[in-house]
Amino acid sequence: MAVRYQPATYQASGGTANEIAAGVEAGLRSGTLANGDSLPPVRTLARELRVSPATVAAAYQALRRRGVVETAGRNGTRIRMRPTVAGDRSVRRLAVPAGVLDLSSGEPDARLLPRLSAALASVAAADTAGYAAGGPLPELETLARDAFAADGIDVASASFGVTGGALDGIERVLAAHLRAGDRVAVEDPGWANLLDLVAALGLHPLPVPVDHDGPLPDGLRAALAAGARAVVVTSRAHNPTGATVTAERAAALRGVLGDHPQTLVVEDDHAAQLSVQPLHALAGATPSWAFIRSVSKPYGPDLRVALVAADETTMARVRGRQSVGTGWVSTVLQRIVLALATDPAVTSLIADARDSYERRRTALVDALVVRGLAAVGRSGINVWLALPRAADETATVARLRDDGYAVAPGALYRLASAPGVRITVSNLNIDGVEALADAVLRAVAGRPARPAA
Ligand SMILES: Cc1ncc(COP(=O)(O)O)c(C=O)c1O
Repeated sequence: MAVRYQPATYQASGGTANEIAAGVEAGLRSGTLANGDSLPPVRTLARELRVSPATVAAAYQALRRRGVVETAGRNGTRIRMRPTVAGDRSVRRLAVPAGVLDLSSGEPDARLLPRLSAALASVAAADTAGYAAGGPLPELETLARDAFAADGIDVASASFGVTGGALDGIERVLAAHLRAGDRVAVEDPGWANLLDLVAALGLHPLPVPVDHDGPLPDGLRAALAAGARAVVVTSRAHNPTGATVTAERAAALRGVLGDHPQTLVVEDDHAAQLSVQPLHALAGATPSWAFIRSVSKPYGPDLRVALVAADETTMARVRGRQSVGTGWVSTVLQRIVLALATDPAVTSLIADARDSYERRRTALVDALVVRGLAAVGRSGINVWLALPRAADETATVARLRDDGYAVAPGALYRLASAPGVRITVSNLNIDGVEALADAVLRAVAGRPARPAA
């Protein structure tokens, strides 16, 4: 028997847990189900499909283990934002209506990314690697070694590698040590993609609260006491709050990790050269660690490259696993990164980009705070607005959209933390800050959108 429910085009079907789960996947492939859609309550679906509740529960459990759905508290079961089943690309992002300024995407400002033409010309003459020679480029390793050492990381005993971006690096490092069912401490709120990855790996996230200065030491202690085998920390420009780990916080976190030396510590330094704040790394606080620096924010996400330093065992596992899979990150891409990293014109462009993000983010935080709103954002491209108790997250996002601004609902980033919204400044010009802040105040207060001129 087939059952229709929200969204109206999707029909659940199946008589076994496998069939019901396969039906949900088919819905995702065809586009009749999209990220964020709710699935019916277990009992409702069981009644309508004429199967036992245990059968539907088993189907949902299998989908949850594979990172297709998540349990959304009282809101039941819904499709994750990045389910592990790909459908039509258009269903993978929340739609931003025409005429609405997109401050929801978390992309770097396309106007501030370096053009690739000079780097492409310089790599055009280089030999490409064959199977035998593929691997991290020695010149890129030297560059990473020097840059990480300058940032205070003890590189003497570190091994280096290259992954297909930060998230690929995090996945490989976690997979090198953890198995499905293991617990991992994550920042809360935290990067939505990481939460989706943790779910897809079958890991169990334990939330660690975050303030301006990074993860709270007591929160980390509690997560480790509750069995977390690893922790993922964003060094700077934390997504979504803009938090940056300070020297004092790094020392306190190192102290906690010192009591749990078996912990795998993974650091995500995605802001890299775009951060105005210095790095205070945790690398080396325990024997198993990895420090990952993406090129996505300064040079562009499409390069899909991150530089990784790790303890010898971790890196040997990561590189060994790469070697039996993708092999290596294309040296063509690595050479482009090398060319960009050694071009003084690009370095100066990135310094300008850093200052531009800084001006716009700070202006927005100030404009919101002046209006009595709890906005934060110490570094990076995002501003996080903690909502007053009376304000509803979904309603705030909807009112802002009606007022011409798309922002990201905090639900994407939260486990146990309080409601908020994320506003990315990449598409925001400085002369638009005051009007946006007025709109945010209206939305939070529940007042109607500004009347059209
Ligand atoms: C916290 C965090 N880490 C890493 C990245 C970049 O990851 P990748 O290198 O996979 O593009 C982002 C991009 O938004 C991010 O917000």
